[in-house]
Amino acid sequence: MEAMSPADTDRVAGVVNDALAAIHEVLERHRVTEREWHAALAFLTEVGRADEFILLSDVTRTSVLIDAMEHGGDDSGATASDVEGPLYVDDPPWREAPVKVYEDYEGMGDADVLFVRGSVTSIDGTPLPDAVIDIWQTGPSGGYDIWDERQPEFNFRGRWRVEDEGGAYEFQTMLPKPYTVPTEGPVGRYLEAVGQHPWRPAHIHFKVTAPAHRPLITQVFFPDDPYLENDTIGAVKAALVRPVEPEGDHLVCPFDIVLRPAA
Ligand code: BEZ
Ligand code: FE
Repeated sequence: MEAMSPADTDRVAGVVNDALAAIHEVLERHRVTEREWHAALAFLTEVGRADEFILLSDVTRTSVLIDAMEHGGDDSGATASDVEGPLYVDDPPWREAPVKVYEDYEGMGDADVLFVRGSVTSIDGTPLPDAVIDIWQTGPSGGYDIWDERQPEFNFRGRWRVEDEGGAYEFQTMLPKPYTVPTEGPVGRYLEAVGQHPWRPAHIHFKVTAPAHRPLITQVFFPDDPYLENDTIGAVKAALVRPVEPEGDHLVCPFDIVLRPAA
C-alpha cells in the first residue's frame, strides 16, 4: 500500500472521528445493549464473509447518496449517472453487429423482444463512434445469468464499440422484469428485520466509455413499473425512465447517451 500523505491522514481522521461521534450518539440515545451490539458486529462479520457490503450499501441507499454527491448537480446536459450495484461481471463478451445480447433459454417464458437504440454523443452534439457500450440486465425470467443455471454464461451481458460515424447504436435484448435483490444472505435478513421489501423495478445497466470523456455508469427504467416509486435501493431518476413503444413484432426503447468531456 502507498504511504498516506499528511493531507490523506487529516481527511481520514476527520471523516472517521465524525462517523464515530455519530454512531456513539445513536448508541447512547437508544441505550443499545451489549447483546445488541455484539449481534450487530456478528451481522457485519457475516456481511463481509458473504461479500455483501456493496449490497448493504445499496439497500441502505448509501450508494445512491454517494452517487448523487459525486455526479449530482451536473447541468452540462450529460446523461444522469446511477449506481452500479453488485452484479456487474468483469470481462463481458464483445458482441458483433447487429448486437444481440442473449441466447434463448428453456423457460424464458413469453417475453417481449426489445430493441434499445439511440446515439452516443458529447455534450456539444459531437458523435462518439469510438465509444464502448457495456450493458447487463436480468433475463425475462430467472433473473441474472449468474443466478440461473438455465442461462448460458454472460447471457444478457455484453459490450461493443459504437463504430457508426454518427454515433448511432442499437442492440437487441428482451424487456426485463422487476426482480428482488439477493435475499438468501445476511442482507436479506436485514431487509426483513427493518421491514423493507427487496424489489427493484425492471432496468438495464449501462457503462459507457469514450476517449477523452468521463465514463458513465447508469440504468434505464421503463414506464408503468410497480416499483418505480419504491425501488428498494432508491435509484430511479425520472430522466432515466424511457418510453417503450411497439414496432412490428417487437418493442423499441429510445435512449440517447450524452457524455461529458474529461476535466
Ligand atoms: C442491480 O440492479 O443489479 C442491483 C443493485 C443493487 C443491489 C442489488 C442488485
Ligand atoms: Fe440490476
